[in-house]
Amino acid sequence: MHGVSVRPRAERDPMGYIGAFCEALPIPQHSDRPQMSPESIHRIGILTGGGDCPGLNAVIRAVAKTAILQYRIEVFGIEDGFQGLIEDRIRPLSFRDVSGILTRGGTILGTNNRCNPSRWCTGFGSDGAPIFSDVTGTCMDNLRKHRIDALIVIGGDGSMKCAAPFVEAGINVIGIPKTIDNDLYGTEITFGFLTAVNTATEALDRLHSTADSHHRVMVCEVMGRNAGWIALTAGVASGSDMILIPEIPFHESAIEEFISSRMNGGPGFAIVVVAEGAVAAGGQQTIARIDPTSPDPVRLGGIGNRVADIIRARTKAEVRTTALGHVLRGGAPIAADRILATNFGYHALAILLEGARGRLVVRENNVFSDVDLLVSAGKQRLVPMDHALITAARALGTSFGDHELHRLGTRGQSTTV
Ligand code: F6P
Repeated sequence: MHGVSVRPRAERDPMGYIGAFCEALPIPQHSDRPQMSPESIHRIGILTGGGDCPGLNAVIRAVAKTAILQYRIEVFGIEDGFQGLIEDRIRPLSFRDVSGILTRGGTILGTNNRCNPSRWCTGFGSDGAPIFSDVTGTCMDNLRKHRIDALIVIGGDGSMKCAAPFVEAGINVIGIPKTIDNDLYGTEITFGFLTAVNTATEALDRLHSTADSHHRVMVCEVMGRNAGWIALTAGVASGSDMILIPEIPFHESAIEEFISSRMNGGPGFAIVVVAEGAVAAGGQQTIARIDPTSPDPVRLGGIGNRVADIIRARTKAEVRTTALGHVLRGGAPIAADRILATNFGYHALAILLEGARGRLVVRENNVFSDVDLLVSAGKQRLVPMDHALITAARALGTSFGDHELHRLGTRGQSTTV
């Protein structure tokens, strides 16, 4: 028991029969933090913020089951991210509510990536410009009304920025890192990423056979705003011929040279995977639209078609484009994400009970720990230029749309494929 006694509290045991288990379960000890008595935290609220991703329900389940079973803490679900906190859409979550959701895509709570309580759009001026107000106080009133002692916020850097003022306002927050892009600074992995990679890889495999049959170039656009983790990882996993990521600006001449050599005298087809945030050297990202009410107003999209146009114009090859977009965010999490999500959820509760305050659960070198909630503010975890996967892919002849391939030729010789 690590010296911490957990008394059965049948009156707060929503399942009735669970009390007996709780006595036997130790509170995990991960640090030197002063241990909180479970009695000091009676109720937690949980919300999912930002874009959805596979594994959100697995985290909700892990948090709620750990809270209810291990600590007999009551759990309240907040609907549609911070919007539900503003609008007082907060409901109790029972053990049964979170049973059977491990494999479900999306989030049973709903989410929102257009809502920041510190800058909440309350209307529009006569010029059509949005009017913003700080409604943190309203959220705090709602939390007090439901007697919620701590918040578990599952989200990306945007959600953590939204959550931070609540710690200052007096409610504890523990964050859990989410995004398919895997670009959250401070953690080596976010849940949802591996499922997105798996989905993209399956799609690229399918494009492979049709490209081969028709002797075409197939360009596949995947998500990844400023970090090319999905494109890089799925590109390598599928054996894509060219991988374009935001971290390596591409050159039209390098694309032309590489695709021409594959189409003429090479295999006669090519697979190009391009992250939505990929850019031409000296160029700008391709913006699909701007959402002025969103804390993160830029929505990217369309670079796949631009790259296809470049290839068509410069090589005369027959080209088709597929944009996977939100397909990557949907569906059931793969096994690795279910496990990651379960570990993150469990760990969040463990550190909450250890007395952690305003912390983000992370994994570094395969070990779970926690860092300041705002560790990722203004920073992103980009693909390093010397990443082992880039080096390996280049060695196998994969192009990154730059002229590096030719400089890397064996014994300093120039190579083409
Ligand atoms: O951050 C996750 C992400 O899926 C990005 O890859 C993408 O650019 C963005 O969200 C899309 O957001 P929305 O759901 O608002 O279109």
